[in-house]
Amino acid sequence: MRESGRAARRKTRLAARYFVVTLRSRVLRENAMAAFLSFLRSTIGLKVQMAVSGFILFGFCVEHLVGMMLFFKGPGTINGYGSLLRYSPAALWTARSVIIVAVIFHIWTATVLVLRQWAARPVGYRKKESRTFSYAARTMKYSGPFLLAFVFFHLAHFSWGMHVTPAEYVEDDVYANIANSFQYGWVVLVYVLGTSLVGLHLLHGGHSMFESLGLRHPRFDGPIRAVVGGATLVLVAGFVFLPCAVFFKLVGG
Ligand code: HEM
Repeated sequence: MRESGRAARRKTRLAARYFVVTLRSRVLRENAMAAFLSFLRSTIGLKVQMAVSGFILFGFCVEHLVGMMLFFKGPGTINGYGSLLRYSPAALWTARSVIIVAVIFHIWTATVLVLRQWAARPVGYRKKESRTFSYAARTMKYSGPFLLAFVFFHLAHFSWGMHVTPAEYVEDDVYANIANSFQYGWVVLVYVLGTSLVGLHLLHGGHSMFESLGLRHPRFDGPIRAVVGGATLVLVAGFVFLPCAVFFKLVGG
């Protein structure tokens, strides 16, 4: 009798201990989740999300440039690349989904940060900021919306086949669409300005990314500037060269 009473008390003690441990780990888990969510909402958390999404978009630009350089290899190569993407819908939509999510995060975090900056800005701060910030940094807020407008124009032009230029649109013929479009000076100009805007945006975005991810150190300022500047230059030069080469009949004839 005494024995079974002891066993029952032991069971109760174990159950109580189990309950406390479970509760504690749940509280810890909930605290960790709450801490993570509050980090995401904090200014530094938003900057980290902006840096990561920006890096993904930069990766897309590099991949896109490499793809577009296939134009110089002739219609077979670039159209083969285009159809490869189109005829593997799973891969295409996985890549597109990553890009779309990155664009949404990038724009959302940028908007929240700008609104917070405006709300916190004391009178007279704007003048001071203009003197100390670089040109790319000052124009960041303005280059973003123009960049978005350029991307919409570009998608309407090449992806959705809308008649935003006088050139004829040929379904599934990337080579013909590029070769036809860049016969028009104003279309070339739009792309030169649009991709230069991409460069301006990347120039400041690249520096900010290193800062937001805590990778900036005075000793590495020079190398970081060189890497960001060099990558931007290569990207812009490639995207500017293609329309100009078509326009001046170096290729695509
Ligand atoms: C000279 C410069 C550029 C040329 C000639 C070019 C050309 C093209 C072409 C032909 C397509 C359609 C591909 C297809 O349907 O298979 C395309 C899609 C696209 N381009 Fe560009 N592009 C240029 C620059 C850019 C830049 C600078 C950006 C970004 C800032 C960009 C973003 C996109 C996006 C998001 C798509 C849609 C990709 C998809 O359908 O999943 N492009 N581009």
